[in-house]
Order: sequence, then structure tokens, then C-alpha cells
Amino acid sequence: MKKNILIVGGTSGVGLALARHYVSDGHTVCVTGRHDPQLQGAQYERFDISADSTLLLKDIDELLKRFQEINTLIYCAGYRQRGHIDDLSDADILQMMNTGLSAPTLLVQRLKNKLKSPLKVMLITSSSQYTAREYEPVYCAVKAGLAMLGESLVKDMAIGKVLVAAPAGINTPFWEGSDEDTSTMLDAKWVSDAVVELSSGAFKYKYAKILRNPARVEIQETLDGDLNPI
Ligand SMILES: NC(=O)c1ccc[n+]([C@@H]2O[C@H](COP(=O)([O-])OP(=O)(O)OC[C@H]3O[C@@H](n4cnc5c(N)ncnc54)[C@H](OP(=O)(O)O)[C@@H]3O)[C@@H](O)[C@H]2O)c1
Repeated sequence: MKKNILIVGGTSGVGLALARHYVSDGHTVCVTGRHDPQLQGAQYERFDISADSTLLLKDIDELLKRFQEINTLIYCAGYRQRGHIDDLSDADILQMMNTGLSAPTLLVQRLKNKLKSPLKVMLITSSSQYTAREYEPVYCAVKAGLAMLGESLVKDMAIGKVLVAAPAGINTPFWEGSDEDTSTMLDAKWVSDAVVELSSGAFKYKYAKILRNPARVEIQETLDGDLNPI
């Protein structure tokens, strides 16, 4: 069945690779971000997530007017933020929280039960979901929170499949401006292919780590529709 797929953070990196895959597979895809990737066959909607939560609510409602009948939400938006907690401004903290947690939460709240078939949710977290990092306190917190949002949604029988994919370092624009060596990191297309593979088949919940050196996928948990382990 061809689906309407909303990819938030679909203008670059893993999200853009996923968009390319689903467009070429014949699905109707909308990608969001702040830069139009000019992806042929996909709708682009500007969705700029800032520290302003009131604006976020308005922008989400506008976005959902412009792309409707959404079967699948893929949440990829995220960015690198470094610094001890007191190095971050109020706006830095709120923007990370809005991008990493408020926006996906509000999207699922609005998209649940809108169609006959239940909403499928795919969340791209990070190894920061399960690895505490001194210089990434808020990033780690939102990724852990996003993972727990996904795991909790699974217990709601009105929600469809939920995939939580936690990748390690990927060679994407995420690292622009840093001096990190990205040459040994995962390839975005390879990660996208792994996410597509993980999301296929029958399950209610799947949580997987996508690791590097060597590049591999380690499925941590899969549950069926009765929430029994598969
Ligand atoms: N790269 C890594 O090493 C790595 C590792 C683990 C997890 N991840 C996670 O994987 C996901 C995809 O990252 P990526 O590596 O593909 O990075 P990327 O190429 O930088 O893509 C990030 C996406 O998020 C969007 N985005 C970021 N901040 C935004 C904001 N404030 N408002 C709206 N959109 C925003 C970007 O859109 P625009 O550029 O158009 O604004 C872009 O589409 C992220 O959630 C990231 O945290 C990345």
C-alpha cells in the first residue's frame, strides 16, 4: 500500500536518504527542515523549530494543514549541541528540547487516530540515548526522552508500529563546523537502508542500535501486537 510519509528533518543526512528511498518506492513524501533539498518527487515544507514553543504549536498546525492523511511519521530532526549545562543559554536549551522532544510529541498527539489505519512512528534517536556525555547534557536527555516516548506509545493500542532506531556516528552535515573525524563514521544511505529494513515486517515495537566499527545493526527488543517478545 502506498503511504503518505512525513519526514521531519528530511532535508539532509539520514532523513534525506530515507526520503529518496520512499519517493523511489512510490510513496507520497513530505520533507521538512529549514533548507529546501529540491528533492524531485517530494513535497518540501519549511519547518523551523526554535526555542519559541508558542510558534512551534502554530507551525505544527500549519504543517499538518499542508500535508495531510499521514500514515507514517519519521522523526529525524536533530543537531549537534556541545557544552556544559551552564554554557548553554536558555534559548539553546529550549530549542534542543523543542527539536528533540516537544515537536515529535506534539506531532504524534495530533496525528493519532486521524486515519482508519493506525499511525506508524519511526524515531531516529542516537547512541546518546543510552550513553551519557559530559558535553551533551540536553542532547542526551532529549534522545533518551524520545526513545521512552516511543516505547510508551507502543502500549497504546491505537498507535501502529513504533520503531526506535539509535545510530552511532554518521557522516552527515550534522558534524559541519566540528573537528571530528567523520571518515570512519557510518554512511547515511547505509543507515537509511538499515532503518528501512528494520521498519519492515510485522511487529508493534522494535528498538535497535545501529553501530559502527564494524557497521552493524543490533536489535535490542521486538514486540508483537500483544506486546509479547518476538
Ligand atoms: N550524524 C550523526 O553522527 C548522528 C548520530 C546519531 C544520531 N544522529 C541523529 O540522527 C538524526 C539525523 O541526523 P543527520 O546525521 O542526518 O544530520 P543532518 O544531516 O544535519 O540532518 C538533520 C535534519 O534535522 C533538521 N533540523 C535540525 N535542526 C532543526 C531545527 N532547529 N528546525 C528544523 N529542522 C531542523 C535539518 O534540517 P535543515 O538543515 O533543513 O534545517 C535536517 O533535515 C538527528 O536526529 C541526529 O540527532 C546523528
